[in-house]
Amino acid sequence: VKRITTHVLQEMKLKGEKIAMLTGYDFSMAKIIDNAGIDIILVGDSASNVMAGHETTLPITLDQMIYHASSVIRAVERALVVVDLPFGAYQGNSKEALTSSIRIMKESGAHAVKLEGGEEILESVKRILSAGIPVMGHLGLMPQSIYKYGTYVVRAKEDEEADKLIEDAKLLEEAGCFAIVLEKIPANLAARVAQEVKIPVIGIGAGNGVDGQVLVVHDMLGITHEFSPRFLRRYNNLYEEIKGSVENYIKDVKTLDFPNDKEQY
Ligand code: KIV
Ligand code: NA
Repeated sequence: VKRITTHVLQEMKLKGEKIAMLTGYDFSMAKIIDNAGIDIILVGDSASNVMAGHETTLPITLDQMIYHASSVIRAVERALVVVDLPFGAYQGNSKEALTSSIRIMKESGAHAVKLEGGEEILESVKRILSAGIPVMGHLGLMPQSIYKYGTYVVRAKEDEEADKLIEDAKLLEEAGCFAIVLEKIPANLAARVAQEVKIPVIGIGAGNGVDGQVLVVHDMLGITHEFSPRFLRRYNNLYEEIKGSVENYIKDVKTLDFPNDKEQY
């Protein structure tokens, strides 16, 4: 299989071929989505919510991100695997940002890292890039800053925040980022960013004028079922499917239906 590289993604943007990205946190799920042909797997710090049950992405540690990333890497043959730098592992200290990124690359075997922010973290982005580590940017709603916003509502509806977002996207492009995620911003603003930068722009809740889409895999499969933002399309209802299967198993055990004569030695 031909591996997806940052170069391949750049060519996809030039050809107008959309990029499909999903999160992944473990070996078994990563195997399925890689074999299905996903272009990018993001080992997102959303693992903090989806895998560990925290209310925000802030508590997850660098060691925990490396554990998830190494599990995903062992499954993947084709997709580009990008890993989130967790909260506290890069802000305001470019040396620490580089050290954290090197740990992710060495200990998990991942292909790139992602950081939230623009101008504020530019020095960190440049220092990571200078070590030869590909960096994906992340602008718009930045969940690691949730206590600054106080809400998960759509970002950059006002001109001031929109102007800063466009500036930040250009700074990230100039610094050498290979792509940018835009989370939960108006579709026309996201489309404008995708036009104004040459690198791929991947949206979540950012409309269809961008170069690709990303969703949290547990959300699009309907494993999480209490989270229904407008941007989420559910392709399955695995919560109900799995619950039903488990209920059937319990019934079969209790009624002595399982195991039957053929299911024993
Ligand atoms: O952690 C995550 O899942 C993400 C995506 C929503 C882009 O950063
Ligand atoms: Na994230």
